[in-house]
Amino acid sequence: MTGAPWSTGVGRLPDGALAVAGVDVRDLAAEHGTPAYVLDETDFRMRARAYRTAFEAAFGAVGAGVDVYYAGKALLTVAVARWAREEGLRVDTASGGELALALRAEVPGAEIGLHGNNKSDAEILRALDAGVGRIIVDSLVEIERVAYLAAERGVVAPVMVRVTTGVHAGGHEYIATAHEDQKFGLSVNPAGRSESPAMTALLDVLKRPELKLLGIHSHIGSQIIDPDGFEAAAGVVLRLRADLAERSGVLVDEVDLGGGYGIAYLPGDVALDPERVAKDIAQSVAGVCQELGTSLPRFSIEPGRAIVGPAGLTLYTVGTVKPVTVSSDDGTELTRTYVSVDGGMSDNIRPALYGAAYHAEVVGRSSTAERVLARVVGKHCESGDIVVHEVQLPADVRAGDLLAVAATGAYGRSMASNYNMLPRPPVVAVADGSSRVLVRRETEADLLGLDLG
Ligand SMILES: Cc1ncc(COP(=O)(O)O)c(C=O)c1O
Repeated sequence: MTGAPWSTGVGRLPDGALAVAGVDVRDLAAEHGTPAYVLDETDFRMRARAYRTAFEAAFGAVGAGVDVYYAGKALLTVAVARWAREEGLRVDTASGGELALALRAEVPGAEIGLHGNNKSDAEILRALDAGVGRIIVDSLVEIERVAYLAAERGVVAPVMVRVTTGVHAGGHEYIATAHEDQKFGLSVNPAGRSESPAMTALLDVLKRPELKLLGIHSHIGSQIIDPDGFEAAAGVVLRLRADLAERSGVLVDEVDLGGGYGIAYLPGDVALDPERVAKDIAQSVAGVCQELGTSLPRFSIEPGRAIVGPAGLTLYTVGTVKPVTVSSDDGTELTRTYVSVDGGMSDNIRPALYGAAYHAEVVGRSSTAERVLARVVGKHCESGDIVVHEVQLPADVRAGDLLAVAATGAYGRSMASNYNMLPRPPVVAVADGSSRVLVRRETEADLLGLDLG
């Protein structure tokens, strides 16, 4: 086996080509074409189970219950939702479309959460009709809207209030969501007011007979490698819960600590260990509740990337190779080999969007050629169309080579676009030596069919 950042089912065959779960990548390319998202089903299931069992054991040990929601925004297909459920996870959705998909996969409404900072009436009504287990409300306006629509349907809507704890975690500004100057959640910081927006929202929910306040939600960011941020945020949420109990007499039953568990993207990266992080958070929350003199709530978490990210790779075909002379920081000249593949920012926007780093290898053959500094780029009309910023590839990399980028299972397909009218690649699952298409490749006819002329 090859090891992180590749999925556990990835290994090199005797002739040097890569195989995923026993399937030769050359056969995958021949059968499904490139680019293609390849998903290692066993790896996905193993990670889903690892998160569930680690959190159940650690929280159970301190006397708290816990639910693990798979964050569908990372990648949601019918099969993926079923795998998550079969491994004992619930499903977190962030739009009407994700909710529709989870329902198509027959995830029971009660096991689904609906997020979003600007849910439409139609999305809220769909959630109420499906009997979702929780709607995570994100603003005072939305509290009013959900209450109004619940009254219209004659139901009581189960809600959690999303709060921002002020804890900063996770690399890039756009994926760090608990600091103040961004669109998500309600701040726990009163900032000169008599009470915080979070407290105002919680009290507002409690006043409304159309709403049932389940608890408090916090998501602090993504690709978090240091567990301290989760503990700090949990402490803030538990204190808010105790303050709310003092103000209203209601000690809410649930606390959701969101997702954001970091993974390995590059060789040598160390992923967050679910057992360690679960133990650290469980012990920390137990200590805080003891100090506050409150009982422990039921907890939930929402990992997405940590379940599906490492399970995926993207398979491309190299089209052109071009050496470019560049000046390095110290003024010396060096050659960077630009390797263009048949996809790019339309199938993985993360490098262009947040400078995300990935690892790539030539995977259809072995090579003993020396390694050269390379940049893997796509085929789009954008110089920022970078797939892998910097990687050492064999000097003999050439047109027709198969190239795989590791750890693209999360936020690749789910953030994909049709820029330059490129049809989106298929999602192909591999398990036990065979492959099957979960989401078919888009065709030009699909795209042309949308244009009514
Ligand atoms: C509310 C919420 N939960 C869970 C997640 C999943 O994060 P990750 O895939 O980094 O675990 C996100 C990601 O944006 C989110 O916003």
